[in-house]
Amino acid sequence: MDRIRIRGGKPLHGTIEISGAKNSALKLMAASLLTEDALVLSRAPRLRDSRFLGQLLAHLGVEVEEQAGSKLRLQAASIADPYAPYDLVRKMRASFNVLGPLIAREGRAKVSLPGGCAIGARPVNLHLEALEALGAEIELEEGYVLAKAPAGGLTGARIVFPMVSVGATEHAMLAAVLAKGETVLENCAREPEIADLAECLNAMGAKVEGAGEAEIRIEGVDRLHGAEWSVVPDRIETGTYAIAAAAAGGEVILKDALAAHNHALWRALGLAGVEVREGENSVTIKREGALKPVDIQTEPFPGFPTDTQAQFMALMTLADGASIIRETIFENRFMHVPELSRLGADIQVRGNEAVVRGPSTLRGAPVMATDLRASVSLVIAGLAAEGDTVVNRIYHLDRGFERLEDKLSACGADIVRESE
Ligand code: EPZ
Repeated sequence: MDRIRIRGGKPLHGTIEISGAKNSALKLMAASLLTEDALVLSRAPRLRDSRFLGQLLAHLGVEVEEQAGSKLRLQAASIADPYAPYDLVRKMRASFNVLGPLIAREGRAKVSLPGGCAIGARPVNLHLEALEALGAEIELEEGYVLAKAPAGGLTGARIVFPMVSVGATEHAMLAAVLAKGETVLENCAREPEIADLAECLNAMGAKVEGAGEAEIRIEGVDRLHGAEWSVVPDRIETGTYAIAAAAAGGEVILKDALAAHNHALWRALGLAGVEVREGENSVTIKREGALKPVDIQTEPFPGFPTDTQAQFMALMTLADGASIIRETIFENRFMHVPELSRLGADIQVRGNEAVVRGPSTLRGAPVMATDLRASVSLVIAGLAAEGDTVVNRIYHLDRGFERLEDKLSACGADIVRESE
């Protein structure tokens, strides 16, 4: 198994090119199931997660081809068997998103339930309720969802989500685009990945309005066609490298980043004493002086994203004073705390709040990656620590960060991948 070794204490200077968003690409890939034509994604990130989903799509009969220039071509000319087995779904929860498109296109599907995951229980009740509202008959049997559309296919409906869910909003959209009549989704998640999915579906011939707002209206169409679509820049990768630059010090230009997708983070970094300059297609991050403590609370977009909470906590260990980090989206998303403590951080957890007391002099140590975003918070802490930090189990990092060590070393970080 690979690990990453970081010799800390080097400021970052240079430019980092931001990849396409993992959390958008995965849903766009699932959208390829909705048409027999080819969907070509450009700026498709090459990640473990997208390859896992590629394997599942191939199993379903989709031709999946990685092309030069970060392109990914997907063509579901026909669906072999609308069956997504446990082994291909359990590796990654986003695989569950094939359920809606399969019911919409084939009228039936058997898809494994995704199960829990390290950051929380993450149920899929809202996904299933939305599909039922569109007319799908759903049964749960031995860990599988068995779903059937009525004889005439799915029908549009008014669906009010009882809580904001990114995955359920996307899943409902992926099924409703081919349902008969109008669907109105209320209390939707407003993440940029949702607007990206809607715009791609529209490029394929769908009629989706309002994505990115709380109410989404979808007029069902009979069929979708192929399209070429460029995946939205990854706001979490952008935020992560911004925090890395703030932690290590220096000045970094994040190229191909959409500044507007990270306003909550920019506000928090500004309060911490970090300079953030927003350009049209880039963001520049500069940190020279001492860091100040800032309290944050994770929230659905446009609030502070849960997917940069761990990274921001690593930064706050370096700030001069106490900060409170409150996690409101997932119930177990503080697994980085014991690992950051191994590096010398002073963090106390009370329920969904962590109190971070800084500034800590971080010192390198071997640490263990536990989930994707937690792992990268350890890399950030390692960049600011004295001596060597070795991050083990980095397959978590490879799920969501493309060429992380290349991007950071190009800015002067001393970071290498080692094979055991
Ligand atoms: C997406 O997960 C992202 N994953 C997550 O990123 C991200 O942290 C999350 O949105 C919040 O922004 C992908 O896009 C692949 P939710 P998702 O449904 O859709 C509860 C990463 O590191 N809920 O918005 O699963 C749920 O338990 C990952 O890249 C239900 O109760 O998140 C959670 O507490 C991690 N029932 C809350 O809603 C449901 O049916 C929000 O989850 C669905 C969700």
